[in-house]
Parts: sequence; C-alpha cells; structure tokens
Amino acid sequence: MIGEKITVHIPIMLHETAQFLNLQRGGNFLDCTFGGGGHSRYFLENYPNITLFAVDRDPEVVTHAENLKAEFGNRFQFFTRPFSAIDQLSLPFLQGIFFDFGISSLQLDNETRGFSFRYHALLDMRIDSQSSITAHEFLATADRKQLIEAIRDFGEERYWRKIVDLILAQRESEVIKYADTFAKFIAENLPQRFHEKIHPATRTFQGLRIAINEELNEIRTALPKAFELLDHGGRLVALSFHSLEDRIVKQFFNEKAGNAISCHEKWNNRCSIARILTKKPIIPMDEEMASNHRSRSAKLRTLEKF
Ligand SMILES: C[S@@+](CC[C@H](N)C(=O)[O-])C[C@H]1O[C@@H](n2cnc3c(N)ncnc32)[C@H](O)[C@@H]1O
Repeated sequence: MIGEKITVHIPIMLHETAQFLNLQRGGNFLDCTFGGGGHSRYFLENYPNITLFAVDRDPEVVTHAENLKAEFGNRFQFFTRPFSAIDQLSLPFLQGIFFDFGISSLQLDNETRGFSFRYHALLDMRIDSQSSITAHEFLATADRKQLIEAIRDFGEERYWRKIVDLILAQRESEVIKYADTFAKFIAENLPQRFHEKIHPATRTFQGLRIAINEELNEIRTALPKAFELLDHGGRLVALSFHSLEDRIVKQFFNEKAGNAISCHEKWNNRCSIARILTKKPIIPMDEEMASNHRSRSAKLRTLEKF
C-alpha cells in the first residue's frame, strides 16, 4: 500500500551468535528474546539439525512466531513468557541459550506504544501490557527516589536532578502523559547540547523503559535459570546494549567461571563450573556498525558450562 510504513528489525551479529552458540553441533536451543524472529529464522534456516524453542514477553510478536511455526513445524516452538520464567516451561536440557536484550525496532517504531518520542502516543512503554504500570502512571506516582533510580541510574542521564525536579513539578499536567510532549518538554528545559547527536530525552526514555519493565531484574533472575537448563558443554550467549545489562552478564559469567568478582575476595574461595569464551566482549564488524546504527553499542559474551 502506498505510504504504508514497514518496520523491520535488523538482527545483530547473526553469524557471530550462531558460531558462539555452536549451532553446528545440533541439538536443542532456546532464543529467550524472539522479537521479530530474525535470529531464530537465521538459526533454523542455516542449521537443519537444531530444534529451537523461543520466548518473548510481548504478545504482539506471536504473528512472527506463527510464521516460523508454519515454515519449520516441529523444529520450532514458541511461548509468550518473560525470560525470568523459563524454568516453568518443561524444556529438555539445552545445548545453547541466547539473549538479545532490550526492545526491537518493531516496538520502538510502533506509533501507539509510547517507546519513541517521535509519536503522539500515550507514554505506555510496557513490553508486556498485562504486567506493571505504564510509564505515564510511573511518572505521575513514583517518589523522588524511584525517579532518580530510573533517570540517573538506569538512564545514566547527566541532568537527572533537573529532570526529576521538572517531573515532580508537572505531575498534574498533560505534558507528561504523551511521548512527544514529554520529550519536547525535556528538550525545552535542558541546556542545549550541540555536540550531542542524540535527542535530549533519549536517556530519560531509556531509563523509564528499564524501570517500568524491571529489565535488569529480569536479567538477574533469568541468567541462573538459563545456566541450570544448559547441558554439559552447553553455551550461554548474551548480546547487551547497555552498560548495566553488560555488567550483570559479566559478573554472572565471572561467578560461574570461578573468577573473583571483587578485589576483596580470594580466588581460592571460588570454584569454576564454566569457562568464559569471550575474554573481552565481541563487538560487531565495522561494516555492520556502519549499516545498522543500533549495532554500535552491542557487546556479545559467551559462557560454556563444564
Ligand atoms: C532486541 S529484541 C530481539 C530481536 C530478535 N533477536 C530478532 O532478531 O528479531 C528484544 C526482544 O526481547 C523481548 N524481551 C525484553 N525483555 C524480555 C523479557 N524479560 N522476557 C522475554 N522477552 C523479553 C522484547 O519484547 C523484544 O521483542
């Protein structure tokens, strides 16, 4: 249809994720962040000896999952679940588990869900609309401490103090109700940052999204459950886009590999039940970074269970 906007999510580091998952060996694998199914499709198309299970907490991705189901039949199974609940799925032992954190372009570019400050949409931002409160309700009710956690800690916004004060002063106003008006309000009230390429509200939006979806807690809860589901020799591959996500993954991997996680801890107090295959995180090749802006902050880490 003329004028219809078609959004696609470009999957990141396809080749690298498949290699690190060691899909070549065949077996049962789990994609914990199905999204538009870009990774899942690539895995199923290129590795005929795998069976793939997939989850996503967003019910809107089901149509993409149904397409894969129609194409790959018994080799593919999808569940609408948060990845913190993968232990409730009665899965077989798995040869590899994959995480691609955050949200997809399908969600970001949706004109009604409030993830993007480009649209006049209710500031909702829930990945799974059955749980938690909307970002607008959060802005209207959160106390100062919760707002600081969202904007300073999760958003890593330099002007957090100013933004928190602005929000507290505008509680009753319609301005904080819609994505575009809230973003404009922030932009108008912050010092101009000519050197910055991102919109002044970018970090605030990111922090709010992380807060209301409890994204970091989801990761903290899911990683040990994923590790339990891995077979011996199985691999956990995680793609992070935010330093806080990456820190949780790095710490968890270090713990399992028996590395001291703080300088106060003695090496010999820990035992190693896995090994880290990516001493330093793997980042996308230059061509991928040039062609897909979102890939620029990607970091891939891999752990192999003994
Ligand atoms: C970056 S996208 C994944 C894109 C996907 N790899 C692809 O190629 O299309 C992240 C996906 O994870 C989902 N997600 C985020 N947090 C989740 C959670 N706690 N549990 C399950 N899915 C989650 C989001 O709904 C989103 O669809």
